[in-house]
Amino acid sequence: MKIGCPKEIKPQEYRTGLTPNAAREAINHGHEVLVETNGGVGAGFPDADYIDAGAGIAKSAAEIFEWADMIVKVKEPQPGERKMLRQGQVLFTYLHLAPDPDQTRDLLDSGCTAIAYETVTDRNGTLPLLAPMSEVAGRLAPQVGAWTLQKANGGRGVLMGGVPGVGPARVVVIGGGVVGTHAAKIAAGMGADVTVLDRSLPRLRYLDDVFGRDFKNSYASAGNTIDLVREADMVIGAVLIPGAAAPKLISRAQLSEMKPGAVLVDVAIDQGGCFETSHATTHQDPIYEVDGIMHYCVANMPGAVARTSTIALGNATMPFMLALADKGWRQACEDDEHLLNGLNVHAGQLTYYAVGKALGIDVLSPTLALKQ
Ligand SMILES: NC(=O)c1ccc[n+]([C@@H]2O[C@H](COP(=O)([O-])OP(=O)(O)OC[C@H]3O[C@@H](n4cnc5c(N)ncnc54)[C@H](O)[C@@H]3O)[C@@H](O)[C@H]2O)c1
Repeated sequence: MKIGCPKEIKPQEYRTGLTPNAAREAINHGHEVLVETNGGVGAGFPDADYIDAGAGIAKSAAEIFEWADMIVKVKEPQPGERKMLRQGQVLFTYLHLAPDPDQTRDLLDSGCTAIAYETVTDRNGTLPLLAPMSEVAGRLAPQVGAWTLQKANGGRGVLMGGVPGVGPARVVVIGGGVVGTHAAKIAAGMGADVTVLDRSLPRLRYLDDVFGRDFKNSYASAGNTIDLVREADMVIGAVLIPGAAAPKLISRAQLSEMKPGAVLVDVAIDQGGCFETSHATTHQDPIYEVDGIMHYCVANMPGAVARTSTIALGNATMPFMLALADKGWRQACEDDEHLLNGLNVHAGQLTYYAVGKALGIDVLSPTLALKQ
């Protein structure tokens, strides 16, 4: 198969869909790989690394879209890229179609077969191609929160680990899923006094069994939450209710009960944010203050560590990418129901029910799409 990877063109996107290692594996499997010049530079992979792996370098995205049987990317295709997709071409990338009718329409019009990272599943019922980015955002949260806590950045001037004779920062993590667990591990590793709140008892049991010595956990009732938030130097918002906007767990009025200069890191901002006063910010201008409380609300946190994120995403996507290339999308999806769950669009028809429901478009069953 001819596998093409164009340079990402969404603003501030430095990740790339194919690492040199993934390119090498695909080539070892007998496939051809073409990447756009400088496409990997933002993640620390110069063209020479791809050439060493045996890949070709294209001067433009147009060359790649024209040549490739399968396009591998990170972000959803932008309008100009969508015009270059064609019938029979496979697109493997994040799509997030439900809130994006324009993109959905363009993908349907193109006739391509689009498999979305975010809806591929695994046998544990989790989302293996979303998890690496949650791991990155979770581990980054205490790091950016610690920076925001510094006095010059508007924070309380509290050091995460304290020093002998001075206690550590108190960190509260709301939501103990992938983001929350990784955030808590890093915050505890920095020496902070950490408590994780969740509403799922099985999740609290797991956290207690595995991390009981590293950090505390508590049931996320409204009362427990505000009691802990009042005493916190840093609160990390990491909740998710699948398919719904994040619930608002700290109101504006409650900010006045917090310590002045305390920090809110709202990782759930990509789902609307879990604090009433959150609004999305960028890496260029990540923090702002409301009523004396500092907020960090960057919606694409993994972009800050593009190299780690690219490699982590590549590790997760590679087996699926190789299956698609080795067997062709039809056989690969027939052999793996979890990959089939990633099928969102095929030959002008939508094949993912939640997207169809959100956008009021008829859906073709993905199993029937395999036969078309
Ligand atoms: N900003 C970014 O760059 C970025 C990157 C990755 C993920 N995210 C977001 O981070 C959030 C968390 O993702 P995840 O992968 O950890 O999800 P997850 O499903 O693994 O974990 C979410 C946890 O929240 C808990 N929860 C739900 N409602 C709650 C409530 N009211 N109080 C306390 N806990 C509650 C759930 O029980 C679950 O354990 C999502 O909104 C995700 O989109 C953001």
